[in-house]
Amino acid sequence: MSAFETFHEAVRTFALGRIGAASRVMATVAGEHELYAHSARWLAEHAEGRLPGPYDDASAFAAYRTGVPSGRLRDAGSAALARLLIERRPARMLDVGAGDGVVLARAFAEGVTPAQLTLVEPSSDLLRRAATAVSDRVTAVRFNGTVQGFAERAPPLPPWDLVHASLSLQNLDTEERARVLPFLASRGLSLLLVEFDCLRPDGDALDADRIRWTHDRYLIGMDEHTGSPLGAEQEERAKQGFLMPMLFGGFLTGRSAPNYEQPIAAWIDELMAAGFTDVTERARVPHWWSDGVIVLASRPA
Ligand SMILES: C[S@@+](CC[C@H](N)C(=O)[O-])C[C@H]1O[C@@H](n2cnc3c(N)ncnc32)[C@H](O)[C@@H]1O
Repeated sequence: MSAFETFHEAVRTFALGRIGAASRVMATVAGEHELYAHSARWLAEHAEGRLPGPYDDASAFAAYRTGVPSGRLRDAGSAALARLLIERRPARMLDVGAGDGVVLARAFAEGVTPAQLTLVEPSSDLLRRAATAVSDRVTAVRFNGTVQGFAERAPPLPPWDLVHASLSLQNLDTEERARVLPFLASRGLSLLLVEFDCLRPDGDALDADRIRWTHDRYLIGMDEHTGSPLGAEQEERAKQGFLMPMLFGGFLTGRSAPNYEQPIAAWIDELMAAGFTDVTERARVPHWWSDGVIVLASRPA
């Protein structure tokens, strides 16, 4: 059996809920690539009890986001946001899924900070980090919850001049996006979206092509996150605390999947259907998972 066939068998065993058995299968090829070694270890550690999600450990997400490949995308996102802030000088801004706030802080440092900033973030630890990251420039209003919850509870304020959603709306399934995107379009004059142009086929999480594609991408991703300038401890945290839950979360079927990515063309169609009238691609950044794309959607005031 090739290493890929073994990985494939381990993934199918995992999806049946036989986590310990999946770990043992994966361990047979652990010497062949770090992807298998990390997978075997993560599966063994989580063979009992609840599987952690990719955002459960804020320090793991922060370590991942400062790794070289993700850092490239983060820097492009910050630069695109900084350019837009300078062009449009928005007074009121909403950030959906702010994460650790580094993208925002770097963009604000380029010159323009909105007078009012609302942060929506379900992880209380990440929300605290985000508010702290921008605190020398603006005191953010914090909403500790999902954007779905925020949409239900947001007070009827004047519109936001700019909504920023970087790699966060992928966490909403199709039905949730069909509720949230019209909310953002009706309450925001423009939306700067960062998402992967994800070629992953829709449908069955255990589709053979999808397992193959994910496997091949993660071989590259694990290599690119090896030799982190931040040191071995941070690298280990990024891989075990973020990349592994993201990888295996993709093989869970149903609502527990960690995200619902799609091609950028589908995002653009959804943004137009939601009420934005002008939707353009502003930048494209090569990334091991798939191209990261920065899209600006606007509507008349
Ligand atoms: C890949 S991270 C991106 C963080 C940040 N925007 C950045 O670009 O660095 C995705 C973020 O979305 C948040 N998130 C997950 N589900 C969400 C939801 N339903 N509503 C809002 N944010 C969500 C996660 O907690 C996480 O902080």
